Amino acid sequence: MDTIRLVKGLPKLVTFGFLTVLALFLLAFKINLPNDGDKINLPLETQTDDYKIDSIVSVLTLEEKIAMLSGNTIFSSAGIERLGIPDLHYTDGPFGIREEVKKNSFQSLGLTTDSATFFPTGSALAATWNPELSFKYGIALGEEARARGKNILLGPAVNIARTPLCGRTFEYLSEDPLLNVKLTVNYIKGVQSCGVAACVKHYAANNQETKRGSVSVMMDERALREIYLPAFKAAVEQANVYTVMAAYNKFRGNYCSENDYLLNKILKGEWGFKGAVMSDWGGTHSTVKAALNGLDIEMGSFRKVYFTKALLDSVLNGAVPVKIIDDKVRRILRVMLFCKKNTSLHPNNVVTTPEHGRITYEVASQSIVLLKNPENLLPLDIHKIKKIAIIGDNAIHKHASGGFGAGVKAKYEITPLAGLEAKLGNKASIQFAQGYKPKFSPERRKGYGRQPDNQPDTSLIQEAVEIARTSDIAIIFAGTNHDIETEAIDRADLKLPFGQDELIKAIAAVNPKTIVVLVAAAPVDLNNTVRSASAILWSWFNGSEGGNALADVLFGDVNPSGKLPFTFPASLDDSPAHALKAFPGDSTVNYTEGILVGYRWFDTKNIKPLFCFGHGLSYTNFSYSAIKTNKKKYKNDETIEISLNVKNIGAKPGLETIQLYVSTLNPNVLKPAKELKAFKKVLIAEGQETEVKMEINVNDLAYFDEKLMKWVVEPGKYKLLAGSSSQDIRASSNISIK
Ligand code: BGC
Repeated sequence: MDTIRLVKGLPKLVTFGFLTVLALFLLAFKINLPNDGDKINLPLETQTDDYKIDSIVSVLTLEEKIAMLSGNTIFSSAGIERLGIPDLHYTDGPFGIREEVKKNSFQSLGLTTDSATFFPTGSALAATWNPELSFKYGIALGEEARARGKNILLGPAVNIARTPLCGRTFEYLSEDPLLNVKLTVNYIKGVQSCGVAACVKHYAANNQETKRGSVSVMMDERALREIYLPAFKAAVEQANVYTVMAAYNKFRGNYCSENDYLLNKILKGEWGFKGAVMSDWGGTHSTVKAALNGLDIEMGSFRKVYFTKALLDSVLNGAVPVKIIDDKVRRILRVMLFCKKNTSLHPNNVVTTPEHGRITYEVASQSIVLLKNPENLLPLDIHKIKKIAIIGDNAIHKHASGGFGAGVKAKYEITPLAGLEAKLGNKASIQFAQGYKPKFSPERRKGYGRQPDNQPDTSLIQEAVEIARTSDIAIIFAGTNHDIETEAIDRADLKLPFGQDELIKAIAAVNPKTIVVLVAAAPVDLNNTVRSASAILWSWFNGSEGGNALADVLFGDVNPSGKLPFTFPASLDDSPAHALKAFPGDSTVNYTEGILVGYRWFDTKNIKPLFCFGHGLSYTNFSYSAIKTNKKKYKNDETIEISLNVKNIGAKPGLETIQLYVSTLNPNVLKPAKELKAFKKVLIAEGQETEVKMEINVNDLAYFDEKLMKWVVEPGKYKLLAGSSSQDIRASSNISIK
């Protein structure tokens, strides 16, 4: 029985008496969320969640219900004080627990007690190709969220890297839906194992920052289903995520926060999502439309709030039925009960721990990608090098914060220079020169943000040249930083900012042993670097332990095993969205490349990238052989079991990620030249051979048929391609599907 009917149907006194008795009853079984710090004491212990939720909903007034549906501070939403139901506390973000901010702004509170571990950002995590690490990462994040009294962690951020320019590529994972899915699912499971609800974001198609608050994304249904939705779907169906954040942009003409198709039909309907949908911060645009079309919580609105009085009025005037409000409250209570339930798994007493440091180190060390090493200049021999020139601002720059949006007040962040100094002690002499300074042009870019000043600083370059000339080796720490790669702004181009191309050229001219380490989290133009440098390593915004991991890779204590989670184009115009002039659009952006995103485009169109998806070298080599499948012919629903032998034919142990792509031979519909369908990361000792087994369900070979609106597996022949990257295929085998 809902409150409205109660109030209308009974004399007010009786109603009041009834509500008071029930309220007292519930108070006796007071709900304490973890941030209360108390022992958990569930109401109606023996009942199911739905029953508990129904009993709470039945005693709430309409006003109380509506008060739960919007943020009461910037990072919390209201509970019900009368029933002892505390507020829900939210925190950014995908790569660390954000510092505490003022009630109604993002301004720091300036506390000294809110530092946290800076975890490698999304693209670094993706470059590990290691779902087990993603699980550990999620647990560590969840533990820190718990320790800071948070109930909802605003991550993972899983939008597809459609254009290399997207400002949030550093937070996102990959251009490939399968890699995206595998990392997303384990991240969420890790976070939620701590009794903290994850929030998968930004649903959906927030693939650019340019005009993100107004642009309407248009794409065909097949691209939506095959490329842009899989990580969200898996978050719901495989990881049981408790909350979803609607994106800022519009999708097919309607804001994602009021999008019936995305929220009601697909998320809550097809996928059966039972948790709560929140808007992105300030991303709500209506009351009735948003309420009816699936938004549950309005977050981050200051000036005009749609889900408070206006929503109450809309219920009272009949525009929004009470049952819609009750459904939203039920979803929020489900999140609250979940947060409460799992409190015993991870005790509420850890913020940054040595164990979290070890996890960030592990992620960082498995994320670093060896892009080029033709003369085996790397790894460096600690006994042979006496004098090292360390050059570049990124040797000393920290990346935990900067730019716009979520950052971390890092408890500590080891820079590359600090990592090398700690590693080398007095074994070698290190000289440092800054080489370039991050500077921005005084003119703002049209509409959105700052433009780096790319003028080389000749005196800094000269200083660096002097130390490089007289050193055994020169290591340039180049790249971007968090002011260049940031929320709310896409980069204008792929150019290495601040005149770094000139710096790299000048150093390589005086020292043939020049290594370039890129510290950046999205593709940049490396054509000049490839021409100048003898070896290239790619590091990322790599967290608190980034500098230690890098030093260990440079000196060979860690054998690099990272693989690129997206394509590095030789030229921006080779990338699909740019080749087709389908970026950034104006009031609409049309994803005319459809399913041909990332390597799917490059391979299908035969365009050679500078570094392909999945690329990453090692200090050892691997040979692949004896690929076989358990059968040659399969039917729908069957599992293809694939095995192959991988041998470490070098002199060092190493981790290799075996990537299994599938190519449809003679398809009747458009199919990408190949698509990633499985992968496995294995450690193989030098000289050893190991049998690697992988499985693909035949149903996972389906494409989405837009006319039938369903997944269809085309009968016919398929080629399975096992490779060390998307371009370096080393074994293959054919199968057929009936
Ligand atoms: C971002 C979200 C973030 C939120 C709260 C928004 O601007 O798009 O990813 O969680 O702010 O900080």
